[in-house]
Order: sequence, then structure tokens, then C-alpha cells
Amino acid sequence: MEQAKAKLIVALDVETAARARELVEQLQDSVGMFKIGLQLFTAAGPGIVRELADIGVPIFLDLKFHDIPQTVARAGTEAARLGVFMFNVHAAGGGEMMRRTIEAVNETAEKEGRSPTKVIGVTVLTSLDQSALTKTGVMNTPLEQVLRLAELAQNSGLQGVVSSAVEAAAVRRITGKSFLLVTPGVRPAGAGHDDQARVFTPGAAIEATSDYLVVGRPITDAPNPVHAAHLIVEEIKRALDGSDEHNFARSGR
Ligand code: C5P
Repeated sequence: MEQAKAKLIVALDVETAARARELVEQLQDSVGMFKIGLQLFTAAGPGIVRELADIGVPIFLDLKFHDIPQTVARAGTEAARLGVFMFNVHAAGGGEMMRRTIEAVNETAEKEGRSPTKVIGVTVLTSLDQSALTKTGVMNTPLEQVLRLAELAQNSGLQGVVSSAVEAAAVRRITGKSFLLVTPGVRPAGAGHDDQARVFTPGAAIEATSDYLVVGRPITDAPNPVHAAHLIVEEIKRALDGSDEHNFARSGR
């Protein structure tokens, strides 16, 4: 159960620090990590990030930095100083931006005696389809572009990428075993889709080799968030047990 729980990241897409605190109090024993994104950060600032990190809950700071290398490296250093477990940058910001960010984060961690924060890349936003991508001047298909940016992120020293379950298996094939794949757009079997166009069950995301599953509204808007999280962790566990059996059978042992 612990292994399954560690894979579940709850998106704290809420308006106030008070609501975020309440959710964390309720859920911290039932899930592995919390994601703070643009809404909560813009509303409540870095104070809530530091506060939650200080009570020992792993935080994924989802601010998708995209700027010139020095600016992102410096912002990344500050993100790491908040005590977050990982944060992200747009891989489209380029190899130098990613390299300088990871270097700055590692250097500061060493100087300040902290374990280094993980930096992952955003490839292509799932809200962009082929036609929207073409209009930005990218002639690749979304999948080609995701793979290209995932490879660039890995070659630039990043530890993983955000990837929808559609692309996760293909990304895994080119990046190998230890690269982190973080998958949003996950919905428990039978749940509504909210505004996500394509959704995947926890089982499908695990089968596509995702390391972390990001789930927001199905947990945070549920009448009983702890129960909702529990059901998802159980679904993850079943998928993990199933894939173990599958590998066991395939290896002929
Ligand atoms: O509520 P829901 O489960 O849809 O929340 C998913 C979270 O993951 C949101 O914070 C959303 O911004 C984020 N996300 C996403 N799709 C991406 C990247 C991030 O849904 N491609």
C-alpha cells in the first residue's frame, strides 16, 4: 500500500491557504505528495509552500518556469530553498536554460546542506492539439514534439517530465527506467471528466509506466476526500500488483 500511496500527488488547486491547509491535514496520511500550482501560488504566495514543506509533506511546485537561463536558474534556486521536493520548467525554454537551472539547484543544495530538489520538464501542454501546435510554428505532431523535448530535457540533466498517459510509454522507451514520468489527467474508473478532454484511469497510467499520478478535483471536490484518495490508492495498488504478475509471468519464473 505504501508504494501505491507514494505515487499519488494531490493537486491543491484552491483559492486560499486556509483551504490548502485543511486538505493537507485531512489527506497527508493517505497520499504521497501535494502539488501547488499557479492558482494557489498567485493567491497565497511562497509562504504556504514553505509552511507545508516545513511540516514535512513532499511538495511539487508546478509553476512551469520559462524565461532566459539566468532568470530560471535563479527562480529555481528560490523554489529549492522553499524546501519543495520537485518543481518544473518548460523544456521549450531550451537546453541551456535547463542545464543552468539544474546546476544552480544542485550547487545551492550542496552549499546549504539540503538534498537536491528534482527538476522536471513540461513538454507539450495537453491543451494543445495538432492545429494549435502548428499555429505556434511547430511542424511536428504533438507526440514527435513531446519525444523531442523529453530527450532534450534528459540530455540537459533534468530528472523527468510531465507526460500524459498517452505518451508516457513512448517517452519511457526513449528515456529509460530511472527518468521520472508525472501524469495528470487521471480519473478513477466511473468518475466524471471535469474539463479534461482525455482521461485515463490510475490503472492505465501505471501500465503506461507513470511514476506519479496527479489527481485534483476527483479528490479535492469529493464529499469525503480521504475516502476518494483511498479508492484511488487501491486502484494504483491493484495495477502495480497486476504489472508485477505480468512481469513475473513474462520472465518465465
Ligand atoms: O483536477 P484535475 O485532476 O484535472 O487536476 C489536474 C492538475 O494537473 C491541474 O493542476 C492541472 O493544471 C494539472 N495539469 C493537467 N494537465 C497537464 C499538466 C498539468 O491537468 N498537461
